[in-house]
Amino acid sequence: MRTEVAIVGAGPAGLLLSHLLAQDGVESVVIETRSREYVESRIRAGILESSTVELLDAVGLGERLHAIGDQHRGIYLQWPGERHHLDFVDLAGRSVWVYGQTEVTRDLGRARDAAGQELIYEVTETAVHDVETAHPYVTFVDADGNDVRLDADVVVGCDGSFGPSRSAIPDQAKQTWERTYPYSWLGILADVAPSTDELIYAWHPDGFALHSMRSAAVSRFYLQVEPGADINTWSDDRIWSELAVRLGHGQDGWELTPGPITDKSVLPMRSFVSQPMRHGRLFLAGDAAHIVPPTGAKGLNLAVADVGLLAPALVALLRKRDSSLADAYSDTALRRVWRCTHFSWWMTTMLHTSGDPFDAQLQLSQLRWVCTSEAGARGLAENYAGLPIGF
Ligand code: DHB
Repeated sequence: MRTEVAIVGAGPAGLLLSHLLAQDGVESVVIETRSREYVESRIRAGILESSTVELLDAVGLGERLHAIGDQHRGIYLQWPGERHHLDFVDLAGRSVWVYGQTEVTRDLGRARDAAGQELIYEVTETAVHDVETAHPYVTFVDADGNDVRLDADVVVGCDGSFGPSRSAIPDQAKQTWERTYPYSWLGILADVAPSTDELIYAWHPDGFALHSMRSAAVSRFYLQVEPGADINTWSDDRIWSELAVRLGHGQDGWELTPGPITDKSVLPMRSFVSQPMRHGRLFLAGDAAHIVPPTGAKGLNLAVADVGLLAPALVALLRKRDSSLADAYSDTALRRVWRCTHFSWWMTTMLHTSGDPFDAQLQLSQLRWVCTSEAGARGLAENYAGLPIGF
């Protein structure tokens, strides 16, 4: 097989890249190890920055997002006895949208189907070859067991943290940074109307809690738990009573309404950056190059920002033989990556209890400053609502 751009990974980054390239007449083939059902149903993040929404709108992908997504002006930050609203529209001139990554992935899949795009699911043994030459290629075994060689002008790794693409960059040509956090998140989805109009990020001595949502009838919650906690030790009753305590049920008359839990999982918390994001004819986008802890909901937005930069760079490279944007891609993308890496680390360390009483006092002082100083609030708002494309 031959194509112009071989895309490894059919998550939001890979599918969006394929869509953006097609808009400029550049052909791609997308391969994915998982099944389409798995990719379209796994529960992931749910907050879109305004620049993400603007990009999706500009390329004809905003219809369902505007029909069933929810625009939010800001968030609540709280600690025992206090809840403060931060209004991002007032503070930074931008809002955010609640719209699940699952929905974004479905919208992208439908748009690619409508365009007749080749999406090849359930491949195994994917390997990336000869990226330092002008003739890179990808090999894999398709779902029927056939060995396939996919030749391309460019290969893009959108295959997440554990995919094969990043390891096609030799160790001596890359540098990595990593931070693991001494806690995990327990995430649940529940068939119950949200007990809040906007997300609540709660500091609590028993650990962080987050009340998020997916729709008027579906709520999403997270609890800080021990690293790698055993999900079997978290019964539904235990989850609801812990959420009630940490989110302040009864505080100033606020009530948390529990409901049937439909999904439960434990998420690790990690920061990771691999640099450069380009090696020869291989480009990386999204989690293949960087992981942020979930606090602040940056992962999906960063992946979208990466491909928003990469698509025009590849179009210029392949259509005009102009390599300037492709040459600048890694440095340009990494500016936003490090900003989001810092913001996610900062939100994470401000809100999760470490067990150290000195840390707790610093966190409470920081939270008070963010909620009472306009400069503090604006710093959080600018980062959370998202830096403009091209930052
Ligand atoms: C969600 C996830 C986040 O990490 C976050 O900061 C806010 C919301 C969510 O899944 O809804």
